[in-house]
Amino acid sequence: MKQKILVTGGTGYIGSHTVVELQQAGYEVVIIDNLSNSNIEVLDGIEQITGIRPVFVEGDCTDIATLRKLFENNPGIKGIINFAASKAVGESVQKPLLYYRNNLNTLINLLELMPEFGVKGIVFSSSCTVYGEPDVNPIDETAPIKPATSPYGNTKQISEEIITDYIASGAPIKSIILRYFNPVGAHPSALIGELPLGVPQNLIPYLTQTAAGIRKELTVFGDDYNTPDGSCIRDFIDVVDLAKAHVIAMSRMLDGEDKDSIEIFNLGTGRGLSVLELIESFERSTGVKVPHRIGPRRAGDIEKIWAEPTKANTVLGWTAQVPIDDTMRNAWAWQQHLAEKNK
Ligand code: WQD
Repeated sequence: MKQKILVTGGTGYIGSHTVVELQQAGYEVVIIDNLSNSNIEVLDGIEQITGIRPVFVEGDCTDIATLRKLFENNPGIKGIINFAASKAVGESVQKPLLYYRNNLNTLINLLELMPEFGVKGIVFSSSCTVYGEPDVNPIDETAPIKPATSPYGNTKQISEEIITDYIASGAPIKSIILRYFNPVGAHPSALIGELPLGVPQNLIPYLTQTAAGIRKELTVFGDDYNTPDGSCIRDFIDVVDLAKAHVIAMSRMLDGEDKDSIEIFNLGTGRGLSVLELIESFERSTGVKVPHRIGPRRAGDIEKIWAEPTKANTVLGWTAQVPIDDTMRNAWAWQQHLAEKNK
């Protein structure tokens, strides 16, 4: 058994896939989640895939007393992966204080407790939103951070600064900041995946629900952008590929003695795909049609962004592997699994 890892937000979308990869790599996992945007049944899926049920604490990371108790009851935690955060861009504009409180208090509490409980490293979930609309694509980690376009994006920028300042002050911890591009797909077992509550805001859950007949049609937000087919371009990264990068990052922090105290990596495929190309990929790989129409642009959307992932490829030894058609098939299998369960 390798070290013990605390995964905050571990029943969420990326968190649950990362718990699976950590357990399969031999790590012992403790999850804390307040279940505000996830379901306790995710633990069953994790157990079915890995044969191990992770320790689960239902609690809120914005409450430092809850976290202190968790560390006291689960001695020997060596690393943290911090997924516990609010993540809907639109909602963050409506409820900025909720976003600042959840995302920043959680991080500050964790950082404060790390030295006290001998936790060596924290992997932080950041986002390509910190780059805003890039001047050039693909975009690498040295690109300038642009003013955030939403409170959500601002919490990611501020969080990166908080970690940087804390480590610069001499705090005895390490951190790896991972800037995700657009995570999509589901575990190939179809036992875990994305579980959006209510009407999905993100492209893939909306697309799979439309393909399943739950939604009438998908609206493509704009086809008059300065891109080859006029729709926006993103770097869609398979969620299992993404999860694997966290395991590598954790091992690098905990086992690599001579590594820098803070490192930042883009996690993307290096390939930009347009919204229309993604719909085509889904239809091609699943044989299922997605009724869609072109609608107006969505406020605040970035026109095109994709990653230069060379740093993660060479320094972490991590490269995105799953072809987009497989990712689409997995997303569809997960949607069908959900439909089966809800019958
Ligand atoms: C993708 C593309 C839409 C829905 C968000 C966050 C970002 C990041 C990933 C995490 C856009 C278009 C969407 C629909 C559409 N990290 N679209 N019809 O906005 O790129 O990034 O998720 O949390 O921080 O902002 O992702 O999936 O919402 O949109 O045409 O019904 O699909 O316009 O071009 P986005 P998304």
